[in-house]
Amino acid sequence: MVVIGEKFPEVEVKTTDGVVKLPDYFVEKGKWFVLFSHPADFTPVCTTEFYGMQKRVEEFRKLGAEPIGLSIDQVFSHLKWIEWIKENLGVEITFPVIADDRGTLAEKLGMIPSTSTQTARAVFVVDNKGIIRAIVYYPAEVGRDWDEILRLVKALKINTEKKVALPHKWPNNELIGDGVILPPAGTTEQIKKREEQKVKGEIECYDWWFCYKKLE
Ligand code: BEZ
Repeated sequence: MVVIGEKFPEVEVKTTDGVVKLPDYFVEKGKWFVLFSHPADFTPVCTTEFYGMQKRVEEFRKLGAEPIGLSIDQVFSHLKWIEWIKENLGVEITFPVIADDRGTLAEKLGMIPSTSTQTARAVFVVDNKGIIRAIVYYPAEVGRDWDEILRLVKALKINTEKKVALPHKWPNNELIGDGVILPPAGTTEQIKKREEQKVKGEIECYDWWFCYKKLE
């Protein structure tokens, strides 16, 4: 089992684009990646997810993040399913899909629930240094919302670049709108600094431990 903050394990995987080494395949190109597992090819919820992901793939790429799928199926099955999606739903899948036919990577990443032999709907967001930044886990019965995963990637990139935190439903938060949250003050010196920033109008605060500002 792996956790947030750890390096993504170094593995060689079979994909619909050929054999690749993770995380280097993306890290060497300076990319983040969004590895998502699905229970099985040729199943309805998974088909809606693949369709939805392809519709948003350019939005992920604009953020410098590449989607990559995974299930415990053979590469021939992935290829045939992708062909079916193109012929029947009119959408060409342009992201690679890992054929983890022995379940080796799925096991390593903790993607297989104890009650199943198939992968759950797990999402691993990995940054351009190969560090696991987020793990999301959904059951087989409920399809994921890729718009929320896009929001997650955007938020993580802002956190990395600006060292701020992002609130509930950012950028449409009920309390602070599209504001971003400053790390809580941890010393009396920092509390004083927050007060000064507030007086200068640089930040707004509900209290010294809850300050926010516009994204610069
Ligand atoms: C589906 O993708 O439709 C599905 C897969 C496994 C269990 C339940 C639903």
